[in-house]
Amino acid sequence: MDAFKPHLASLAPYPYRRVDARVKLDQNESPEELPPAVKERALRRLADLSWNRYPDLHGEEVRAAVARYTGWAPEGVAVAPGSNFLILALGQAARRVVDTSPSFAYYEGAARLSGVDHRAVKLGAGFSLPVGGLLAALGGGPGVLFLAQPHAPTGTLFPADQVAAVVAAATRDGWLVVLDEAYHQFAGSDLRALARGNPSVVLLRTFSKAWCLGGVRGGYLLGSPEVAGKIQSMLPPFLVPAHTAAVLLSALESPGYVEDLVARVVAERGRLLAGLAGHPTWKAHPSATNFVLVRTPDARAAYDGLLARGILVRRQDHYPGLDGCIRVTVGSPPENDALLAAAASLR
Ligand SMILES: Cc1ncc(COP(=O)(O)O)c(C=O)c1O
Repeated sequence: MDAFKPHLASLAPYPYRRVDARVKLDQNESPEELPPAVKERALRRLADLSWNRYPDLHGEEVRAAVARYTGWAPEGVAVAPGSNFLILALGQAARRVVDTSPSFAYYEGAARLSGVDHRAVKLGAGFSLPVGGLLAALGGGPGVLFLAQPHAPTGTLFPADQVAAVVAAATRDGWLVVLDEAYHQFAGSDLRALARGNPSVVLLRTFSKAWCLGGVRGGYLLGSPEVAGKIQSMLPPFLVPAHTAAVLLSALESPGYVEDLVARVVAERGRLLAGLAGHPTWKAHPSATNFVLVRTPDARAAYDGLLARGILVRRQDHYPGLDGCIRVTVGSPPENDALLAAAASLR
């Protein structure tokens, strides 16, 4: 390992372990597949491709389709097979990284991989946005601030004026603010207006959740042409595979299915929260996403008890401030029934 940079010695693996279970509620995926007509169109497109040929250099056709869908200038769009690649490039570009604690783990992962200073600011009471703490943490000189809105892994939608206040102060001091909208459809929120008015703001979005395409891998960035162009140029050439592009293009031709799926998930989220509200010891946190964070007396016991009943969730008690917490993805109606029945038998 002498050939590698010293900072890589302390790199921790991404905190995920694959476990098989009858009911899979551990990765915030869509409980539904792509609608059959969209999938068939994607398969036909895939069959018509020349598999011996390289794909677009930087997913240009997907970039153009994303630009049309979002009403964004194509030069301000960057695409990758998953927004994790965009997070990694942003981490590599950053002089330093600030995020919240807890937050989506790969912000810190990307900072650590890149060997840059990472600071996490604890959320306030009730998982509120720590506006003062964040502004204080920006004192060390410009870098990249990652903020998920709605927030992961708590599911909180921060008040829009607080996000705008953090963005205004941070960008005034030269910071680039990355607003991660991985779950925005489930919150009915949309930060495009904020990003449009400020070239030091970028948005990240993913096809892995509301678009039902976790296995296909697709994510995009919306920002200024300068930032999007820089990030895109940091990614390896031909990164978006032809088969991924074929599926993303087919989905972007029929985006209406996303809205339908989101309405069903939001209704089920309400049912899940209502069902858990009567639990004697578990406390579900309000959610604006497709998952629910639940505080239990003992995360390991809750996880094991659910798994013994065929239900896989994700422990979150390794995060500071989340002792006892598990994260439950909103599933299909029968999956949520199974979760509620199992929860009722656990204390
Ligand atoms: C907040 C947040 N950002 C980004 C991602 C990564 O998305 P992708 O699947 O596009 O890499 C996730 C995945 O769970 C997430 O929760």
